[in-house]
Amino acid sequence: MASMKGKVVVLVGCASGMGAATLKLLLAAGATVTGFDNNRENMADTLEEINEELPEFKDNLNVVYGDVTSAEDRSRLVTTVREKYGRIDSLLYVAGVLDLMCPAHKTDDLLWQYVMDVNCNDCFYLVRDCLSMLLDHEGPAANVVIVGSVGGLYGSTAGAAYVTSKHAVLGLARNLAWSYHWRNLKVNVVNPGAIISGILGNAMEKWPDRDVMDPEGNDLYNVRGGVSLGCDAAGNNMMGTSEDIARAILFLIDDDNAYINGAQLTVDGGWTSF
Ligand SMILES: NC(=O)c1ccc[n+]([C@@H]2O[C@H](COP(=O)([O-])OP(=O)(O)OC[C@H]3O[C@@H](n4cnc5c(N)ncnc54)[C@H](O)[C@@H]3O)[C@@H](O)[C@H]2O)c1
Repeated sequence: MASMKGKVVVLVGCASGMGAATLKLLLAAGATVTGFDNNRENMADTLEEINEELPEFKDNLNVVYGDVTSAEDRSRLVTTVREKYGRIDSLLYVAGVLDLMCPAHKTDDLLWQYVMDVNCNDCFYLVRDCLSMLLDHEGPAANVVIVGSVGGLYGSTAGAAYVTSKHAVLGLARNLAWSYHWRNLKVNVVNPGAIISGILGNAMEKWPDRDVMDPEGNDLYNVRGGVSLGCDAAGNNMMGTSEDIARAILFLIDDDNAYINGAQLTVDGGWTSF
């Protein structure tokens, strides 16, 4: 693993799942990380693990608690980073939420808006507001990495809002990559397949009165579109780990991989290679 010593990294969505795994890898590689998340309970667990597993690196982490859908919280994050470091080497947008596998006819305004906000709109606002700390970077290029989904490439594996938000954020990344490649910024996307993480539990907490897996959507997307394709020849589910995605993120921000820009890296164990 490449050294990230001295690198200033902003990691949005670091309390559980892929974000937490990425946080640990970054700290172990020597990065200085500002983490952002709204889930204090999961963050407390992750901090405990870091204290146990990586005690020598824990002082390289500063956590800003906030909700990415709040303009005030995002602004607090940007101001903290500006005042503390004045630059960003890598901005990693890992935060994301499920759409409860709802097909369009079951997607109400609230669900649509929240999923579009967390998975796409707030990513745009945050990247835009950090550009002054990312562009014209001294030395190797600065990075933005956005975690999308195979739902950003195909229509079959999640509901209407999730699939739309993940397609949109891929378009955003490609536009950013082209717009700023001459200003020493590279922008890439990791599109995970089915990964063991906190996403289902977090959805159950966010929407306690709703089915996390709408039965109709579950049949359409999880059974017919997802799990049936995401199985190996023996019928075993091809789930990956959050660490699989963390390693892909670190690969993309490694200075040695400077020519990878505007790319989408599918990390799904071969699920979508059919
Ligand atoms: N798990 C999967 O199978 C899978 C597959 C493809 C893509 N993804 C994507 O991977 C990314 C990471 O998800 P994960 O699976 O690790 O799930 P996760 O729920 O464990 O991690 C998401 C993180 O984002 C944070 N977050 C969510 N909403 C937030 C908000 N409003 N404000 C601040 N922080 C917020 C959560 O607290 C959590 O720490 C997401 O973008 C998700 O859409 C997941």
